[in-house]
Amino acid sequence: MLSLVTCALLTCNTAVGVEVSDFDSIKLYTLKNQNEMVVDITNYGATITSIRVPDRAGNIADVALGYRSVESYINAIDRPYFGSVVGRYGNRIAKGSFILDNNKYTLATNDGQNHLHGGKMGFDKVVWKAEVLEDSVKFSYLARDGEEGYPGNLALSVTYSLTDDNEIVMHYEATTDKPTVVNVTNHTYFNLSGEGATTINDHVLHINASKFTPVDAGLIPTGELRDVAETPFDFRTPKEIGRDLDAHDTQLKYGLGYDHNWVLDRIDDAVELAAMLYEPNSGRVLEVLTTEPALQFYGGNFLDGRLVGKSGKAYQHRSGLCLETQHSPDSPNRPEWPSTVLRPGEKYNTTTVYRFGVK
Ligand code: BGC
Repeated sequence: MLSLVTCALLTCNTAVGVEVSDFDSIKLYTLKNQNEMVVDITNYGATITSIRVPDRAGNIADVALGYRSVESYINAIDRPYFGSVVGRYGNRIAKGSFILDNNKYTLATNDGQNHLHGGKMGFDKVVWKAEVLEDSVKFSYLARDGEEGYPGNLALSVTYSLTDDNEIVMHYEATTDKPTVVNVTNHTYFNLSGEGATTINDHVLHINASKFTPVDAGLIPTGELRDVAETPFDFRTPKEIGRDLDAHDTQLKYGLGYDHNWVLDRIDDAVELAAMLYEPNSGRVLEVLTTEPALQFYGGNFLDGRLVGKSGKAYQHRSGLCLETQHSPDSPNRPEWPSTVLRPGEKYNTTTVYRFGVK
């Protein structure tokens, strides 16, 4: 159901369905379901700006970090990528270069000498075309051949749907006219106590992975797939995030905490559970399901109180976390890992689900 209404950013309150309203000069799309769950998404960066979900007692809170105005998204210092789609290659590519079919490609470098989240004008920094469908919104973007150094015109879409099972379903599709690499993901920061709460270290996290990819000081994978057993990276049984954060561990030192990629224990290529996050006080639960082979758990280590969010609260160190479904970082330089290459005639087709609940 679609109704065209004008509403203040955080206070839309009409029936179940999809609404469109102005988000300054950009549009804001509001998805609602029958359980009072409300999700706001803008076509600037195909960005989720808010996710309002009930706690165990039925109290609603916004569990996604973000800003109130589009100017803040455009001008954000330190570029946190709150809620946006990142790509053409989400995560890092070493030294911003890779070889594909004997051609060397040089990408924009925006993270020291490395390439991060698609470069200087990644998919988080562009205005996407939007199409309202029943109970979903489809955002499309044509990334031009050569943009940020990537080969091929890439026609990409992400469709966000909200179900009555409190799931945000994100379906990505892409085609290209030249061989290229693609790895897109959503970069929402969650705090299940509500955005603006001080820390996520009390959240309990489960990651369905027996191995992770250790990194160098620039957060580029070394190539090793390391067992999580007997390391702070073991989340195979649910564990409070803060429990091992102060362990003497070189990997935690490099990431300033958790900022690593876990290789998921998958059965096949269906949508499978990758991670579960639980906040004991509110009882809110987030399950992340995906078709992707890996997951970056970023613990908000670079938040330092300088960014002030939509409700006026400063986002403190580790006050939000990202669970980014993806291929492993630097895969274009790791031919032994699952491929991120997309060729003409092929279709990029991935699905990730954020499913909310309580316990
Ligand atoms: C990366 C972090 C980076 C952050 C930027 C995350 O996906 O893993 O290293 O600082 O994005 O917001």
